[in-house]
Amino acid sequence: MAAPRQAGGLTLVVADMLQVFFTCCLVELLVSAVCSQYSQFQGFLLCRKCGFEIAKAEDLVSIASEAALRQRNDTFGSNHTVLIQLFRNPQDIYFEVITCLHSAVEKSHERYITDSWFPGYSWSIAKCPHCSSHVGWSFHAVNEAAEGHKSKVLSFVGLILDKIMHEDEASNLIVMPKTYTS
Ligand SMILES: *[C@@H]1O[C@H](CO)[C@@H](O)[C@H](O)[C@H]1NC(C)=O
Ligand SMILES: *[C@@H]1O[C@H](CO)[C@@H](O)[C@H](O)[C@H]1NC(C)=O
Ligand SMILES: [Zn+2]
Repeated sequence: MAAPRQAGGLTLVVADMLQVFFTCCLVELLVSAVCSQYSQFQGFLLCRKCGFEIAKAEDLVSIASEAALRQRNDTFGSNHTVLIQLFRNPQDIYFEVITCLHSAVEKSHERYITDSWFPGYSWSIAKCPHCSSHVGWSFHAVNEAAEGHKSKVLSFVGLILDKIMHEDEASNLIVMPKTYTS
């Protein structure tokens, strides 16, 4: 430990800078760990049909689309406010969709560019990996290397509001019957 300090001013400065750097990183890691623990975005989004954990609420993200027929910020689960967008598909079916950076959905291998609700992104069908219920779509930036995509997310999923539920909702459903058993 003492050796570098005797080796000269420069080594000392570099060693100290490294130490400060790593201490800062550690602090930052701890802070972000604490923050995510107490973030308002807690818990899981579940498949409404089978209860499978589809995504983490902390991965919810607002990705606004010009193709949305309507947008609203609304509550989801107990206390989460998310951007909910209304879309219509070519078959005239309406879907309310929330967007999420990561999820456990099973993505179809066929990707389509036409009729994408998010211009610049291809879409593919996303299913619940457990019960195969159609829960939304996976979106991928069409030309990932292109300028202009650098600031964008490369992929995300759009989950159909009616097909998923927050675990807070689920636990409310589960708590109810328990009162009958006592
Ligand atoms: C939703 O909230 C975001 C962030 O607060 C805001 O930028 C956006 O304009 C809001 N959108 C709507 C439709 O209220
Ligand atoms: C939701 O927010 C309200 C008020 O901000 C708080 O009292 C309540 O405990 C919160 N519920 C959850 C599940 O975090
Ligand atoms: Zn399912």
